[in-house]
Amino acid sequence: MNDLPLWQEVQADLQQVEVELLRQADAPDPVLSQAARHLIQAGGKRLRPAFAILAARCCGAPLERVLPLAVALEMIHMASLVHDDVIDASPLRRGRPTVWTRWGKELSLHTGDYLFARSLLLVATYDDPRIPSILASTSVKMVQGELHQLAGAFDLDVTLRDYLKRIYRKTALLIAASCQLGAIAAGAREELIQHLYLYGRNLGMAFQITDDVLDMVAEPERLGKPIGSDLRQGVITLPAIYALRTCAKKQKLICLLARRDKTTVEIQELIQLIKNCGGIDYALGLAERYLARARQHAVFLPAGAARDTLMGLTYYIRARGI
Ligand code: IPE
Ligand code: IPE
Ligand code: MG
Ligand code: MG
Repeated sequence: MNDLPLWQEVQADLQQVEVELLRQADAPDPVLSQAARHLIQAGGKRLRPAFAILAARCCGAPLERVLPLAVALEMIHMASLVHDDVIDASPLRRGRPTVWTRWGKELSLHTGDYLFARSLLLVATYDDPRIPSILASTSVKMVQGELHQLAGAFDLDVTLRDYLKRIYRKTALLIAASCQLGAIAAGAREELIQHLYLYGRNLGMAFQITDDVLDMVAEPERLGKPIGSDLRQGVITLPAIYALRTCAKKQKLICLLARRDKTTVEIQELIQLIKNCGGIDYALGLAERYLARARQHAVFLPAGAARDTLMGLTYYIRARGI
């Protein structure tokens, strides 16, 4: 996505994020540095730093004010990915072998902890107590979201409400915090901070719903991670929740969803069944409703290129799922 025209608005800034990320990956232990660099150099969309930078720019602040925060946000995100890939036993991330498959699970956990710890040092450069406080409570909720997901694995009684709460914690909140904190770092007034927070929160919900759809319908090469992994792990996401409510072949669906070691053919069959029940269309429709809400908040931001890019990102998220 880094070549999207709307991305040009932050491209130069994101290059500085890149330089700083690599500097932060430096560790006394060469293997730790290597593992952190492996993940950074694999790319990634850098959505969270981009949101923080765009939010700060909307509020009239220069890059220097938001750069440490933007880098810290990406590091918290990467720490969660390194740990997530161990938990999910995922072989691929950002189109590359995951840290745990290259260096083992122990080092992977240390890499995640290290990235997280270094992010704290960056956050400590800010005087405003809201910044560490919001990041800390966001991190706590992200763990709660993951625990909730783990506890609900293979639970076919999961409700729409459970699902929304889970994705709010595990994904939407960090995106919301990126927007909110960008505005706080810029010294914005409360009303703007709130609109940016709500923009990020709604967009973040749509982002995870779309990601859950992509887990069923994407081409693995484009996604950079294997498809069907949620179904394999028993993570019941929105398309499946909808299908469970509407499917004419409900027994078949239940039987496949509940099966532990699904074969590739069973995964394909399951995805087809969910598609036929309208699960994908329903999920994309709900994502679109969240995006419309995000746009309603973007309208209140000061007019300019940064706001246009934030607006444009809502269309990018939609296009990702199509
Ligand atoms: C992956 O996030 C995990 C989710 C919250 C869905 P991204 O899709 O932002 O991952 P990268 O940073 O671009 O690799
Ligand atoms: C990624 O979650 C980690 C967080 C959102 C904290 P998932 O397990 O759902 O995402 P992918 O598919 O591995 O990126
Ligand atoms: Mg995962
Ligand atoms: Mg996971």
